[in-house]
Amino acid sequence: MTGIKVAILGFGTVGEGVYRTIQSHEDELTEVLGKKVEVAAILVKTAKKAREIHERVLVTTDFEEIIRLPKLDVVIEAIVGQEPSYTYLKRSIQRGCHIVTANKEMFAHHGKELIGLAEEHYVQVGFEATVAGGIPVIQTLRQLLKINRVSQIDGILNGTSNFILTEMREKKLAFGQSLRLAQEKGYAEANPVNDVEGFDAFYKAMILSRIAFGTEPSWQDVEREGITNITGDLMLAAEKLGLRFKHVASLRKDSHKIHGLVKPALVGNEHPFYHVEGVENAVNVHSDIVGRITLQGPGAGMFPTASAVIEDLVYVNQFHAADQASNRKPASFEVEEHDEAVGYWFIHGVSQASSLGLNVVWSDDDFAGIYIVKATKSEVGQLAQQESTMHYYAILGEIQWDSVKQRPSVVI
Ligand code: HSE
Repeated sequence: MTGIKVAILGFGTVGEGVYRTIQSHEDELTEVLGKKVEVAAILVKTAKKAREIHERVLVTTDFEEIIRLPKLDVVIEAIVGQEPSYTYLKRSIQRGCHIVTANKEMFAHHGKELIGLAEEHYVQVGFEATVAGGIPVIQTLRQLLKINRVSQIDGILNGTSNFILTEMREKKLAFGQSLRLAQEKGYAEANPVNDVEGFDAFYKAMILSRIAFGTEPSWQDVEREGITNITGDLMLAAEKLGLRFKHVASLRKDSHKIHGLVKPALVGNEHPFYHVEGVENAVNVHSDIVGRITLQGPGAGMFPTASAVIEDLVYVNQFHAADQASNRKPASFEVEEHDEAVGYWFIHGVSQASSLGLNVVWSDDDFAGIYIVKATKSEVGQLAQQESTMHYYAILGEIQWDSVKQRPSVVI
């Protein structure tokens, strides 16, 4: 009986994790799939590097050698950036291989085309590892929430940013030091600007949006801000108020479109994101039948990401044509419109409270230039346009102002 022949493109943190997991979980894979999974080839960037790879595996820098292998069933892609990954995966599908990818940037840009092409060639696409590391959020949305109408998704989707925010707050480390640690642990992207400026979370949010809503916001309408403006002082002020900074990607459906936002926000300890620390990610799904569900788990790193890839390896091999019909698109439904809500906002970068012209509910002499105001998003947004140094962050959840403690109290 011939086994399932797999090629792994890329042998960085994720590629190596996948290779090692295929070895360590050989028995489970054979039992579930009824055949042995064999890594036939690995595409590497540089040939002359010592690696622990079995000698019968073809290790090459040339994709052509891989695509011409006499038997190839699944191509697993763990490279970064759009190209050459997109081209390699297109060619793999055209050759009749299932594909599994961990590449969020490429998949946010080209996922739709790859899925369309895969349908034409009767093969499957696994992309669980593109969003939220080891958390099975894609399959949860795709397979387990078929009848629920999802109206909103909020997520901590970048492990590196969450790790940095946690290190800065808990250990009072500097931003650069925390980032270096995240790099050493294999969490950060090759270009960490993608992590800390919110691009990575943005790509993941767009992939989630397609799964949950069948469509995505116009990319240029999505406000994107990373964590580089969050200083130790801001964290101290937030802590005094019982709040923590989290980098949150939000998707919200209204009757016309999907609204997206990728930006730091503050949460109190009743919020499910408050205790999501270190490299953890979390995804909070609001839907009509079940209510709110929070999925939480490791968002980056060798084995959490390998876990998502390996589960996809099983999924693409077990997928039956009959499942295609049940893999339906999310239903369209009307969403009740509400007036723009008044919320609480954490503001900094303004010199005079009096210049705010908003309802200031908190300020503190120890934290000059930091305020909490009660306003609508349009009001704070307008002010930020006038005050070029101003930054504003939402306090998430339903907030009540505790006038005894002089701090917000977050009710979920
Ligand atoms: N750099 C990414 C992160 C890796 O930190 O979340 C996982 O996608």
